[in-house]
Amino acid sequence: MTRHLITSAIPYINGIKHLGNLVGSQLPADLYARYLRARGNEVLFLCATDEHGTPAELAAAKAGKPVEEYCAEMYAVQKEIAEGFGLSFDHFGRSSSEQNKRLTQHFAGALANEGLIEEVDQSQIYSETDGRFLPDRYVEGTCPNCGFEDARGDQCDNCTKQLDPEDLINPRSTVSGATDLEMRETKHLFLKQSKMKDRLNDWIESKTDWPVLTTSIAKKWLHDGDGLQDRGITRDLKWGVPVKRGDDPWPGMEGKVFYVWFDAPIEYIACAQEWVDAGKGDNWERWWRTDKGADDVRYTQFMGKDNVPFHTLSFPATIMGSNEPWKLVDYIKSFNYLNYDGGQFSTSRGRGVFMDQALEILPADYWRWWLLSHAPETSDAEFTWETFQTDVNKDLADVLGNFVSRITKFCRSKFGEAVPNAGEYGPDEHALIADLTERVARYNAQMDAMEVRKSAAELRAIWAAGNEYLQAQAPWTTFKTDPDRAAAQTRLALNLIPLYATLAAPFIPDAAEKMLAGMKIADAGWPDDVPAAVAQLPAGHVFEVPEVLFAKITDEQREEWAERFAGKRDAA
Ligand code: 2FM
Ligand code: ZN
Repeated sequence: MTRHLITSAIPYINGIKHLGNLVGSQLPADLYARYLRARGNEVLFLCATDEHGTPAELAAAKAGKPVEEYCAEMYAVQKEIAEGFGLSFDHFGRSSSEQNKRLTQHFAGALANEGLIEEVDQSQIYSETDGRFLPDRYVEGTCPNCGFEDARGDQCDNCTKQLDPEDLINPRSTVSGATDLEMRETKHLFLKQSKMKDRLNDWIESKTDWPVLTTSIAKKWLHDGDGLQDRGITRDLKWGVPVKRGDDPWPGMEGKVFYVWFDAPIEYIACAQEWVDAGKGDNWERWWRTDKGADDVRYTQFMGKDNVPFHTLSFPATIMGSNEPWKLVDYIKSFNYLNYDGGQFSTSRGRGVFMDQALEILPADYWRWWLLSHAPETSDAEFTWETFQTDVNKDLADVLGNFVSRITKFCRSKFGEAVPNAGEYGPDEHALIADLTERVARYNAQMDAMEVRKSAAELRAIWAAGNEYLQAQAPWTTFKTDPDRAAAQTRLALNLIPLYATLAAPFIPDAAEKMLAGMKIADAGWPDDVPAAVAQLPAGHVFEVPEVLFAKITDEQREEWAERFAGKRDAA
């Protein structure tokens, strides 16, 4: 069996993510991890919080907390929410870990040894009062374009003009309000990505099986405009990985840290070390070092389209450039955006549903099902409360939930809470089993291909096939004239419950568990052989009618939620 390494883009530490973020990386990654595990593969599924950079520093300042404390608190919040959504990470790490610090400094040293790092002299705003250089977003002043007095050093929020901090009139430090700012000479490190253009190009060209969304973005960055630019990998911040060349100091780089986008993807590797150091695994190198067994690993990354340039070019440049035997990604599954009710989700305006709020109003499975079955794969998708209500009520309550409840209750009333043994399967039962055999094969193929929406559609069709069978056979009618025939129909229908639970578990793990618990079967095993899978509950097998799986969403709830999430939450 292949071993599978799976990573999801690591969410920024500041603020709680919205459902659009969730469906663009963590959720489909979890779907795939659960599926592969269920099929008997060895899987290492990793995610973490992305903790460095200006946004974390600014959010901590806004919260009036030291940045370490703010990050520790937000990490705990994000971890709990991830668990609430059933995200089955083998480890949820932190990019501020000691492991990531060491590894980031190691990579910088290795890249420098390969001649891929250039020291560039620049002049930059220095604040005497603060005793530090100020990055763009730490300088505010009057916009030279429109006169807006609170324009930021990188952009004016009033007229949207892109700015450099030295363009501002009456510039001031956002750290202290100080105005004694001056331009000073300083040095930054640049990763010479341009030197690696041919290698990266050959690598991307070899990935003929990747989604077009992924390769088109990569190729655009490789070839459009000036092509692949060298990239500044250091910043003047306090919070981050201190710049060192491996274990050695880097003269002239004192007080600087690596740019958050340099250390964030390295956390994918550090996270495997954290997983071992936390006592959950015993060997991270066999997942990450091709000289230590990682050649047998298939590595898949999940992310939103905005992250694609960093994962197709920058991080591979770091890995390839080190000239060390690190594992490169084998497949990048990327996603478009999910929009919210006629507009965009907005973290700053609190528009849309955020992960914590979602769990306050409904269990995770409702969200998991809707989001995954509408995953923005080929184009952007849109969340509306109407489609959410309609789809959840139909797929989960009317089709799956109703099937399970109807047949188990019918059996209890006529045969008791045990699988009835009379009667034989006839042509209709054999036809259903043959149909399901084909459908399960198609479902497997779609899941293997990470075609999320198509997998959901096939699963829905598998549930519907059972419902239609039940509807057409109507054992409650048959029972009146031919109880043995009704018993055979009931036996097959009951046996579909563990099949449905197993197939559905990657999408809706909690409901799947309830279904299996009700049918008193711990693990039905993946249905590689459908006829055998639907014979797992023998005559006489005792069960209990499972608790109601899905309550319908009412019109009142829909209206209340639409109003509540229209955009009033405090911005993060
Ligand atoms: O877009 C984001 O949320 C980034 N924090 C993703 C980083 S993914 C990776 F590089 F680690
Ligand atoms: Zn302006």
